[in-house]
Amino acid sequence: MHPLDRRRFLALGTGLATLPLAPAVPEAGPAPRRLLAAPAAVELDGGAARLWAYDGAFPGPLLRLREGESLRLDLENRLDEPTNLHFHGLHVSPEGRADNPFRVVEPGQTAEYEVAIPPGQGGTYWYHPHPHRRQAAQLWRGLAGALIIEHPLDRERPLADCGELVLFIKDLELADGLPASHARGEWSRGKEGAGIYVNGRLDPQLEAPSLRPRLRVVNACNARYARLALEDGRPFHLVALDGHFLERPQPMTSLLVPPAGRADILVPLEAGEPARLVLRPYNRVAMRSPSVPTVIATLLPPRGRARPGLPDGLVPVPALDPAQAARCREVVMAMSYMGHKGAGCGTAQVQTGLGEMEVWEIRNVDTMDHVFHLHTWYFQVLARNGKAPPFRAWLDTINLRPGERVDIAVPFTGFAGRSMYHCHIAEHADTGMMGHIEVV
Ligand code: C2O
Ligand code: CU
Repeated sequence: MHPLDRRRFLALGTGLATLPLAPAVPEAGPAPRRLLAAPAAVELDGGAARLWAYDGAFPGPLLRLREGESLRLDLENRLDEPTNLHFHGLHVSPEGRADNPFRVVEPGQTAEYEVAIPPGQGGTYWYHPHPHRRQAAQLWRGLAGALIIEHPLDRERPLADCGELVLFIKDLELADGLPASHARGEWSRGKEGAGIYVNGRLDPQLEAPSLRPRLRVVNACNARYARLALEDGRPFHLVALDGHFLERPQPMTSLLVPPAGRADILVPLEAGEPARLVLRPYNRVAMRSPSVPTVIATLLPPRGRARPGLPDGLVPVPALDPAQAARCREVVMAMSYMGHKGAGCGTAQVQTGLGEMEVWEIRNVDTMDHVFHLHTWYFQVLARNGKAPPFRAWLDTINLRPGERVDIAVPFTGFAGRSMYHCHIAEHADTGMMGHIEVV
């Protein structure tokens, strides 16, 4: 039994183990919002482009909710192929009209989505299509947007004084005004574009709300790794990863955000001095990595204000005890394959019990980096190559270098149902690096 939630533990003990435990009743909320997925003409810094877009915008509209509310969307599919929605990183039901990656919304159909956001989910997320074997193409052509769930801490000082900016990173490459199509080798390398767009712009000038703005960074690229830094190398503080606050701010000078990962950072600014945010080179093998840092955005400090202090404590992150795990599984990642190792052969479908914690030993046996992503449930890293991580964090996405082994602990709590894990280099997910998991 996992040690996280005493109430759920007690409920399991009283014979409710097969029932997903309902989150607090969501507020009635406003009428559903329509979200249109369709080809759209978009004015980009690189020229006019014909993309696939949500509501005609690149990136799609920013969705903002509070914990306890319900996200209600009517997805209208005016593409010429099936699509659907995935609310990446949210710990919500994988079934029915919620975050169900198996749902198929045919061209011409409108599908209702209703996702109840339980308390404790406040953070930085995103949404993107997740249709079988068409994820890479739809994401590449522009279908993605940010999803922010407000956390009670956001309204407290000093975070409230910091203010925030969402930086939604998405690379793109155009050929004759259209997203360049995949060359054959890009299905194994993963597709990257030379244009690194932040909120749909190249090197946007962003007016910071304070001298220590909080940047909510989303890497929505198919395959590009974002090794974030300030151009002058100044330290910044990481306060949240993958939508979850850390226990306390962590100082650093660069941070690798893999495809689909999110990072909330606090950046100290000097009055009157713009600060440039860059992506530093990162060699993920067999890739077209920029050889020099690329400026992706410029932060303009506000006039005449004091810099907000740093929060000293954020949110406790419980230590997970691997000795409490119901079982341990080995997961192998390699091109075209991802699955659990059982009696000498891989199996892509596994079953586990609601309320149980598992340890997964993930091995990248390949010659390039891969990004492990688990839907619905989130995890903590116990060890990377046998070494404990420098601080505890809840994650839904973790990068593995070639030959690396990462041990994670996953409490399968809160929601039962069928869901997935896969490599989040979108091309790899589409070409077979995906497995299913069922929690019963
Ligand atoms: Cu963003 Cu299946 O994932
Ligand atoms: Cu991969």
